[in-house]
Amino acid sequence: MALPINELTATLRRTGIGRYMEHFEALFPVEHLKDLVVDEIGPGREVVIDGQRVVNFGSDSFLGLDRDPRVQEAIRHGVDTWGTHNGASRAFVSVQANIEAEEKIADWLGTEAALIYPSVTLANLGAIPGVVGKADFIAVDEYAHNSIHDGVRLAKGGGVRSATFSHSDPADLARVLHANRPYRYALVGVDGVYSMSGVLPPLADLAAVCRANNAVFYVDDAHGTGVLGPHGIGTVRDALGSYDNTLVVGSLSKAFSCLGGFIGCPAELQKQLKIHSNTYIFGGPVPPPYLEAICTVIDILQSGEYDRLIARLRRNLRQFVDGAVQLGLAVLGGLTPITSVLVGDEASTLKAGKFIFDRGYYVQSVIFPAVPYHAGMLRVQINSNHTTEQVNGLLDAFAELRGDVPLAGPDALRMSA
Ligand SMILES: Cc1ncc(COP(=O)(O)O)c(C=O)c1O
Repeated sequence: MALPINELTATLRRTGIGRYMEHFEALFPVEHLKDLVVDEIGPGREVVIDGQRVVNFGSDSFLGLDRDPRVQEAIRHGVDTWGTHNGASRAFVSVQANIEAEEKIADWLGTEAALIYPSVTLANLGAIPGVVGKADFIAVDEYAHNSIHDGVRLAKGGGVRSATFSHSDPADLARVLHANRPYRYALVGVDGVYSMSGVLPPLADLAAVCRANNAVFYVDDAHGTGVLGPHGIGTVRDALGSYDNTLVVGSLSKAFSCLGGFIGCPAELQKQLKIHSNTYIFGGPVPPPYLEAICTVIDILQSGEYDRLIARLRRNLRQFVDGAVQLGLAVLGGLTPITSVLVGDEASTLKAGKFIFDRGYYVQSVIFPAVPYHAGMLRVQINSNHTTEQVNGLLDAFAELRGDVPLAGPDALRMSA
């Protein structure tokens, strides 16, 4: 007898994204390079995937802190001190390390307070629906991270009105806000760095539109955290001059190489977020050992050592971007460690990723629906602890790739930026 669960599974396979992915898996059984398993990590940025040793250019650990003995030791110390987990929602109780980590984040960032969530996704899913009500309106950049859009969907479920505006377009944001008046107040959601392309939005212009239209600015700076701004505080303060009227979201899982996400905000708002974010109240927190590691990372970021780490990252990034441009590739981003090379259609993108992999370098082949249809790209993530030889080797692989797979030229950039 067919059980409903079997029907459900078959339907998922036959329709929508399930059907699309099956199609690509069937056409490109080895090229798709998704759902990979790493067998071994190290030395340095090397990894063994499916028995093949490659240099990992697909890691968000931009400063290489995942390999740092001090960060690893902090986690061990945290296990000895606090055990493996919190044991309860923070609505009931938090370990002291959590309070310390939040105070350190706020001090480093320059906000009055900070609140840690188990991930940036859970920060967005908790805070966005948490701070708005039926009388309010949310405007969100059409290309904002999926978790912002999911937060907006939850808010819509609660009766809040919302709309998207054209990517990084302040005039369209103004149009959308005007068209949806009256509202009590609006929330405007954007990324600080667009995670697929590495493109930075015009934050100051968008913030000005927010102020002129009674809207609070919500910037998810997950990919700016640790790599942009003084001591890695991210894009927001430099772009806006202050955090006035802005909720700034950052990641503890990328450049930090720990776990979690945070929201920097005024102290009174932090108190309100604790009682308005369902993901904070009804879910478990970041385990205490990681909170100790977060404190250690902030000490590193605030020390003189940060200049050395970021200088190495920028040197590697410059080397890759300059080399890729010289090769005539269509390079997106380049201001942050995420640098994408446009390929074009989905099949070519998957083939290109596999070609690079076979030459000993792992980069992420990103296709629709993560990026627009036929705007597939190879996403290269540069780390501080890549060596000059490794970056050169990746460039050599791209040089060879040009003769094998049709690649979009720089002219395609205007269309995709
Ligand atoms: C802008 C942005 N927000 C949220 C996330 C998800 O972060 P997390 O893994 O902490 O949920 C990402 C991940 O790439 C991101 O780029």
